[in-house]
Amino acid sequence: MKRIKAIYPGSFDPPTNGHLDLIERGSKIFDELVVAILRNPEKDPLFSVADRRKMLEAMTSDFENVSVDTFDGLTVDYALRIEARAILRGIRAISDYEYELQMALMNRKLQPGLETVFMMPAEKYSYLSSRLVREVAQLGGSIDCLVPEVVGRKLREKMDVAHKFENGEQPTEKTHSDGKGKSSRKEMKKRL
Ligand code: PNS
Repeated sequence: MKRIKAIYPGSFDPPTNGHLDLIERGSKIFDELVVAILRNPEKDPLFSVADRRKMLEAMTSDFENVSVDTFDGLTVDYALRIEARAILRGIRAISDYEYELQMALMNRKLQPGLETVFMMPAEKYSYLSSRLVREVAQLGGSIDCLVPEVVGRKLREKMDVAHKFENGEQPTEKTHSDGKGKSSRKEMKKRL
């Protein structure tokens, strides 16, 4: 019997409990699942690709058939390159559906042999998105139940450093996504 490899592509900036829920569900129906982080030079993410990879690796370490990778270019080209036969995407609510359907049909047009499989995360995560997690964290709200522990820690570190910049204190960690520049809450807000 053929083994089925699937990719779960996304930005994961940052990964949330909703992503983790979907990874767990995907790992049960696919023989192999590759969580694929898009390297998008046009976006200005909160977390670098390396940070997102580390967080995803830590939070999926218990799943034997799950790995983490990064890619650029077309998702279908990447899937083909690693011999995946399916693309896993999550649908939280009807509002996700139109965009996801468009993307799935475009991907099918580009690569008819590749199937998109939609799965629903647990209802308790239906309101959860990376964008909202960034916003809540940036405004000082609790993100404890929204993200895995490793992500919560990284977010708090980032907000802490941004806070120190604001108060003119000496930072202890680089916060900018490329590690080169300074960051502040204002700059982070721009990236939300
Ligand atoms: O988590 P996101 O940001 O909703 O993920 C979107 C993602 C990365 C799956 C999508 O933007 C994508 O596939 N980008 C890669 C470029 C591509 O293949 N574009 C055509 C999609 S139809």
